[in-house]
Amino acid sequence: MANIFVIKKKISSFHDKFIKVSGDKSLSIRWVLLASLANGKSRSINLLRSDDVKASINVIKTLGIKVKLKKNFCEIYGKGLDGYKYKKNIVLDAKNSGTLGRLILGLLANSDKEIKIIGDKSLSKRDFKRVADPLKKFGVKFKLTNNRNLPLKILGTKNLKPIKYYENKGSAQCKSSIIFAGLRTEGTTIIKAKKSRDHTELLCKYLKLPVHLLKKKNYDLIKIKKATNISSFNYHIPSDMSSASFFIVLTCLTKNSNLTIRNVNINSSRIGIIIILKKMGVNIIFKNKRLYKGELVADIFVRSSKNLKSINCPARLNSSSIDEFLLIFLVAARAKGVSFFKSLSELNQKESPRLKWGSKILNLMGIRNILTNDTIKIFGNPNINIKKKIIIKNYLKDHRIFMTSAIAALTFGGEWHIHDKDSVNTSFPSFLKILKDIKK
Ligand code: S3P
Repeated sequence: MANIFVIKKKISSFHDKFIKVSGDKSLSIRWVLLASLANGKSRSINLLRSDDVKASINVIKTLGIKVKLKKNFCEIYGKGLDGYKYKKNIVLDAKNSGTLGRLILGLLANSDKEIKIIGDKSLSKRDFKRVADPLKKFGVKFKLTNNRNLPLKILGTKNLKPIKYYENKGSAQCKSSIIFAGLRTEGTTIIKAKKSRDHTELLCKYLKLPVHLLKKKNYDLIKIKKATNISSFNYHIPSDMSSASFFIVLTCLTKNSNLTIRNVNINSSRIGIIIILKKMGVNIIFKNKRLYKGELVADIFVRSSKNLKSINCPARLNSSSIDEFLLIFLVAARAKGVSFFKSLSELNQKESPRLKWGSKILNLMGIRNILTNDTIKIFGNPNINIKKKIIIKNYLKDHRIFMTSAIAALTFGGEWHIHDKDSVNTSFPSFLKILKDIKK
């Protein structure tokens, strides 16, 4: 019972609240991985303390890297680009993290012993062929379960060959894994990549690594050469846009409320949800915009919205809002008119099939919707007011399904019994505490 979160009442209006959400997950994992190959001690502040990041720390520890994790900071003692030291037959557990599971493969492209990678039930269903295929072209050997899944075995080579690759899924995880392998390879690796989040490229630029990024209108061209050295680096991780989004949507769907979220990473490859919500009539303002080590950061002010409009969502905004669609569907549920979202098959490749789950949650809420393999049409109801009991049980324990359901319960009413409260630990352990603080 304790792992079920029950909500029986809508949240009351809140005013002039200031909150801080935890460190960005993508940046936290990238900092851990790059610091593990740097020369000497790197320190981070505001590192996300979630299960995905803890799994990343455990992975580099298994690869022989010393880590000091204190209350207010984390230190990683890198031993250089060839500093991983490990025995035969080690097993690395990526748990629930697609980012860790895929990015680490690029760094292991030159491993001289076979390494096994495992993950939890959800990660073991996800596609690893999308990363193994390009890495095989470098000369890396793979044994994948069913040719596609975890557990997998990877054996690298010291004789990596540079590749030319078209990354056509818009997956930052695939792109980053290839960049990491390229940094270990003589010659020039070239990636033509469909647009996706560019934290790896920005971090590499900040670290003066030989990664050259050319942004074209519809794709990016990335050229990578072999790195000779990574300098240790200190990093204050900005807060996570994906975590901030739960409270942005909570505010916009709650009457007479407003909220400010401090120090959020507003990288243009992450703010699709802001552009979409503004088009739907939500009042959101970025304040105190500043640049931090290559990443744009701001405080986000959001106010509740009276007249939400439906949207025909342009597919070009998909990759920059890929983790936020469940929340966007809630806003579409309250909007006047019919909203349409397309080219979203990648959503079904996440921790659980999220496009299908979006439709399922809307059905439970009594919101008419039409689902296909990669589209959803949502018939909004500005007067939605749920009266019934709703049970949400996602057997893959998807953290974003849990948190989205909590926001729906607090804004649309009804009696919600949401299973797997623990799943917040994957990406946002302080989610429930922040909710409590807003309710006060
Ligand atoms: C991430 C990339 C995205 C995103 C995931 C984090 C990253 O996945 O959904 O939560 O940190 O690179 P894909 O690369 O599979 O699109």
